Amino acid sequence: MRILILNGANLNMLGMREPEIYGYETLEQINQEIRAHAESLGLEIDFVQSNIEGEIINYIHRTQDKYDGIILNAGAFTHYSYAIRDAVISVSTPVIEVHLSNIYARDEFRHSSVIAGVCMGQISGFDKHSYMLALEYFKINFSK
Ligand code: DQA
Repeated sequence: MRILILNGANLNMLGMREPEIYGYETLEQINQEIRAHAESLGLEIDFVQSNIEGEIINYIHRTQDKYDGIILNAGAFTHYSYAIRDAVISVSTPVIEVHLSNIYARDEFRHSSVIAGVCMGQISGFDKHSYMLALEYFKINFSK
């Protein structure tokens, strides 16, 4: 079982960016912990990050027949990118939307996701554990 962890806008800045919200760990450090957790679950994972909407769309398209699931944190694109929403619909790869922060406890514009409705579900507010919980769900789902 192969999962793509796809991070969008500004997530490359973790560690420096608003640490009171996102913590002091870099994306690289978080990814190492996610990898260890995936290995313990027997899942193979790859990581990609892009600040460019079109690249995120291309990554989603390329998962078709290559990945069994996507864990997607689109960053601020979450709140307005109908193009990323359409990309999720255009592939059969199941997607779980994740967020480090609780988007419902923050600015009003973050309270809605235009992508979550076409995903299996959304996990928001558990910092790096949001990714781990999504991995666990994929594991449960694949074992059914
Ligand atoms: C985020 C939440 C978004 O509102 C924000 O724009 C991000 C990060 C999160 O992981 O908490 O860039 O997706």
